[in-house]
Amino acid sequence: MLLGVNIDHVATLRNARGENEPSVIEAAKICIKAGANGITAHLREDRRHIKDNDVYLLKNELKCRLNLEMAATEEMQKIALDLLPDACCIVPERRQEITTEGGLDAFSNKKYLADFVKPLLNAGIEVSLFITPDENQIKAAREIGAHFVELHTGAFSNAFGKNNEEFEFKRLYNASVLANNIGLNVNAGHGLNYSNVHRMNEIPFLYELNIGHSIISKSLFIGLESAVVSMLNIVNKS
Ligand code: PXP
Repeated sequence: MLLGVNIDHVATLRNARGENEPSVIEAAKICIKAGANGITAHLREDRRHIKDNDVYLLKNELKCRLNLEMAATEEMQKIALDLLPDACCIVPERRQEITTEGGLDAFSNKKYLADFVKPLLNAGIEVSLFITPDENQIKAAREIGAHFVELHTGAFSNAFGKNNEEFEFKRLYNASVLANNIGLNVNAGHGLNYSNVHRMNEIPFLYELNIGHSIISKSLFIGLESAVVSMLNIVNKS
């Protein structure tokens, strides 16, 4: 299974000071050096974390697979066609949400999405739809013409360790089998962490996991001690 690292939260931290630290590009390079198979960045309508310049730098400076997460808007379509990332994952977006909360309603918006993804497909971009593990959504994704679905693992992640874990796990399992049966490739992501991600190995046909929050959070605690030691080495010199 491949791992795409979502680096949005590096940009969130950078934007807190409005300067260029920490560098999103440097962070992406570290992820790739560590063995990640690709970088995922979500260019949101409100540019709350990743900015336009970031996606162009990622595309031009990194020798790896770039997955652009974006809403199905005219503005984002224009950017994607100019940027030509390896993949576009179409996600729903609401300004007030903290993160991408639900899946895309591909079933109710089949015609709009089919028209929306056509130019992306014609440009050779791999298209994925971020959907809940629901039969109607998966079948709709196929009709729309997407190559991939990315199964929303949020409900499973929330259920992990609770009574409904198996129920949510089974939904993902069945969704992956169905998607594969009808010719779709399958990715998954959202809320996966160091405790729950092992269960993804039990699901057949998963191609790539996209993980952000837990990796960036853990990197703080893996790196914080040495960051403090480095600073003390300078401070204590005088
Ligand atoms: N996949 C998609 C489509 C997402 O929107 C997100 C969150 O930005 C992720 C994966 C990663 O989720 P998390 O940050 O919870 O690992």
